[in-house]
Amino acid sequence: MAAVNLGAWLCALLAAVAGVLPAADALGMNWGTQATHPLSPRIVVQMLKDNGIKKVKLFDADQGTLNALAGSDIEVMVAIPNNLLDLMNDKDNARDWVRHNVSRYHFDGGVNIKYVAVGNEPFLASYNGTFDKVTFPALQNIQNALNDAGFSEIKATVPLNADVYNSPANNQVPSAGRFRTDVAPLMTQMVQFLANNSAPFTVNIYPYLSLYLSEDFPVDFAFFDGLAKPLVDGVNTYTNVFDANFDTLVSALAAVGHGDLPIVIGEVGWPTDGDKHATNALAKRFYDGLLPRLAANTGTPLRPKQYMEVYLFGLLDEDVKSVAPGAFERHWGVLRFDGQPKFPMDLTGNGQNTMLVPAKGVQYLPKTWCVYNPNAEDKSKLVENVNYACTFADCTALGMGSSCYGMDVNGNASYAFNMYFQVQNQKDEACDFQALAVPTQTDPSTAACSFPIQIAAASSTSGGHRRARAGPLGAAALLVLLALVQLLMSH
Ligand SMILES: *[C@@H]1O[C@H](CO)[C@@H](O)[C@H](O)[C@H]1NC(C)=O
Ligand SMILES: *[C@@H]1O[C@H](CO)[C@@H](O)[C@H](O)[C@H]1NC(C)=O
Ligand SMILES: *[C@@H]1O[C@H](CO)[C@@H](O)[C@H](O)[C@H]1NC(C)=O
Ligand SMILES: *[C@@H]1O[C@H](CO)[C@@H](O)[C@H](O)[C@H]1NC(C)=O
Repeated sequence: MAAVNLGAWLCALLAAVAGVLPAADALGMNWGTQATHPLSPRIVVQMLKDNGIKKVKLFDADQGTLNALAGSDIEVMVAIPNNLLDLMNDKDNARDWVRHNVSRYHFDGGVNIKYVAVGNEPFLASYNGTFDKVTFPALQNIQNALNDAGFSEIKATVPLNADVYNSPANNQVPSAGRFRTDVAPLMTQMVQFLANNSAPFTVNIYPYLSLYLSEDFPVDFAFFDGLAKPLVDGVNTYTNVFDANFDTLVSALAAVGHGDLPIVIGEVGWPTDGDKHATNALAKRFYDGLLPRLAANTGTPLRPKQYMEVYLFGLLDEDVKSVAPGAFERHWGVLRFDGQPKFPMDLTGNGQNTMLVPAKGVQYLPKTWCVYNPNAEDKSKLVENVNYACTFADCTALGMGSSCYGMDVNGNASYAFNMYFQVQNQKDEACDFQALAVPTQTDPSTAACSFPIQIAAASSTSGGHRRARAGPLGAAALLVLLALVQLLMSH
C-alpha cells in the first residue's frame, strides 16, 4: 500500500472511530465545591454516571471526593490550588503531594487519575504577577515526581486563563495571536516543558465573559448560529468567538514553535443568573451550539476536524464562590446547587435535547421558608438586617437583570431572610431579624424567582456522615474505658 493511501486509510479509520464516539465521551465537567451545602460526593458520582459523563476536573484533591470516585472509571483531573504552588517549588514537597494525592488513589479499581492541574489560572492579570515565579517550577516538580513514581502517563498541566495570549489591538485576528508580553518568556518555557512531556496546554475560554466585559461586543459572535459580518482572517472566516479565541492560542503556540501542541479546554460554559445575559435561555442557546460541534469533531479553522477535549463549567451552582468578577459567578452550574437540571441539554450530540438526570437521594430541610413579617412594628432597621443576611448568604439573584429583580422592598427582604435562614439550616434564631422576619409554610417562589429550600446537612457532606457515626462509637469507647478504670480501681 502506498504511503499516501495508508495515510488516507488511517484518516478514514480515525474519522470512523471518532464518529461513533458520543459527545459525552469527550465531555468532562468541572466539579467545584464552593458551596455552603455541597452535595455528597457519592450522590454526585452517581449523577455523573447516570448522565454518562466520563471525565471530571476538580479544584483540589479532596479525600471524600476521590474516595467516591474510586472504582467509577471516571477520568479525573486533580488539582493543586494556587496557594500551594509556592510549597511545590520544593522537590520533596512535590513528591509528598504526589504520594498523598495521586499514588494513594491511582491503582486498578482505584481512581482513574489522568491529569494534575498545577494551579488555577495563575497568570490572571488581576493577580499582579503573584504566581509568576512559582508556577513553572511547581509544574516541573510535579511532572518529574509523577514520572519518578512510575506515573508518566499522568500529565501535569496548568489551566490558564485565555488572557495569557492576545492579538495586537491594531490587528485583532486569530493569526496574529501571541503570548502576553509580560509572561511571554515564561509561557515559552512552559510550552516547551509540556511538549517534552507530551502534556497538553489547558485553557479556559469564556465567550460569555467577552460579552459581559464589552458593551460593543456583537451578541451573536458569542454563540454558534452564524454572524451577519464574520471576522475574516486571510482565508479563514470566524463566526464565533470560541473558535477565534482557540485559534489565537494556536497561533501563539505556533509562534513559539509548538503549533501542534494538544489543547484541552479546561473550562467553558454559560451562567444562568446574576446578569442580563446570564439566563437559562442563553445558556441553552450556547450549549445547543457547542455540544453538536464537539460531537461532530468540527474543530476550528486552524485545527479542522479534530477531537477536542472539553470540560464544561460547571456541574453545580456554588453559593459561596467569590462574586468579585460578577454576580453571575454563583450560577455557572448546568444543574442547580441541589443537582436539579435547569434546562434541556444534548450531551450525546445526536439531537436528544433532554433534561439531565437529576441527583438521586438528596435529602432536603423541611418545607419552611423565612419571609418579611408584614406585622413588624419597628421597620427602621430593615436595611441593616437585609445587608446582614446578604453578607452571609447568596443574594445575587436580586440584582438588576437577575431572576428575582423587580420585587418591592419587602420582597427583597423576604428573599434575603430566606437565603440566610436556609444557609443556617433553618435554625429558629435564624428567622428573627429583630422581629422583622417570620417563618412560613407557604412557598413564596414565583415563576421567575425561586426561594430555595436547602439540602439537609446530614446528606450534604460525607464528613458530616462520618462524624455522625463516630459520635456514638466514640462515646461507647469512652464508657468501656471508664468501666475498665473503675474495675481496676476497685481492686
Ligand atoms: C495532598 O498532599 C499533601 C501532602 O503533601 C497534604 O498535606 C494535603 O492535605 C493533600 N491534599 C490536598 C487536597 O492537597
Ligand atoms: C492588584 O493590583 C491592584 C491595583 O494596584 C489592586 O487593587 C489589587 O488588589 C491587586 N490584586 C492582588 C491579588 O494583589
Ligand atoms: C525539552 O527537551 C529538550 C530536549 O531534550 C531540552 O533541551 C530542553 O531543555 C527541554 N525543555 C524544557 C523546558 O524542559
Ligand atoms: C432589591 O435589591 C436589589 C439588589 O440589591 C436592588 O437593586 C433593588 O433596587 C432592590 N429593590 C428595592 C425595591 O429596594
